Amino acid sequence: SDLGTFIAGLPKAELHLHIEGSLEPELMFALAQRNGVAIPFASIDEVRAAYSFSRLQDFLDIYYQGANVLVTEADFHDLAAAYFARVAADGVVHAEIMFDPQTHTDRGIAFDTVIRGLLSAMEEAEAEHGITSRLIMSFLRHLDEESAFATLAMAEPWLDRIAAVGLDSSELGHPPEKFARVFAAARAKGLRLVAHAGEEGPPAYVEQALDLLGVDRLDHGNRSLEDPVLTARLAREGMTLTVCPLSNLKLCVVDDMADHPIDRMLAEGIRATVNSDDPAYFGGYVADNYVAAAEARGLSRQDLARLARNSFLGSFLDDAAVAAHL
Ligand code: HPA
Ligand code: ZN
Repeated sequence: SDLGTFIAGLPKAELHLHIEGSLEPELMFALAQRNGVAIPFASIDEVRAAYSFSRLQDFLDIYYQGANVLVTEADFHDLAAAYFARVAADGVVHAEIMFDPQTHTDRGIAFDTVIRGLLSAMEEAEAEHGITSRLIMSFLRHLDEESAFATLAMAEPWLDRIAAVGLDSSELGHPPEKFARVFAAARAKGLRLVAHAGEEGPPAYVEQALDLLGVDRLDHGNRSLEDPVLTARLAREGMTLTVCPLSNLKLCVVDDMADHPIDRMLAEGIRATVNSDDPAYFGGYVADNYVAAAEARGLSRQDLARLARNSFLGSFLDDAAVAAHL
């Protein structure tokens, strides 16, 4: 379509992408076979049929199970290489990708295996597709503070290759305050900070992410809009929100794409961006997310250009690189 062509042609950054969430069923099967790992699905169609969720936890259970096929450095390389090859066609020129070390280290995969595989694919992506990238190491919030500190310690030799730490997994019952000390330690090491907040959790969790973690950027943030004071604050402080429309629909954060708040965020003056979250599970890569939101909410080409511009403004690129993309 004309809209699809316009969107794919907009240079953009993707700021909210879990690399484990880009594991397509075809690659899941291939890696299961390569590594001799059993998966509870008989066919690719059966995998896709299982991707029906009514809340975040339904998805997380199947997402962690899928990650079991990732074993060797080559697996992590191939996973990330497939993501970069796919989004080159979506107009992505820069990607800040999250990975969940604990998902792997807790089943005996070395931290170094994971990060070496990802970094090699990132280097190739720049050479082959002209896509620059950064890594965000995300802590699983359903695990304890001690496990997050142990993960930060494992990352020590790699700190010059990691841009930021993040916070993901089951939000309700695991408020940001649980990780205030480990985020302070990450900041002291020179890392930037992001956290998922306000996806299923209340506006108070967003306030904690701002006040107790001191995040540089918020992942999701949808439920902030329930609080007018918080909404105004996000706009005033120029906080970037990494919004994920198809994820929001699949995880029932919105009941219908027609109810998606992306344009309301822009109208409130919030620096909102559009991202895919877990594209293999939620039915689309980043350009599909722009298209779905644009069709459902009647976004103009100016709105779409604004969203793409916001993706660079909200990135962890240095000022000269941001300027070069605007
Ligand atoms: N929310 C929380 N944790 C996650 C998500 C998400 O959308 N995707 C992958 N891990
Ligand atoms: Zn996410």
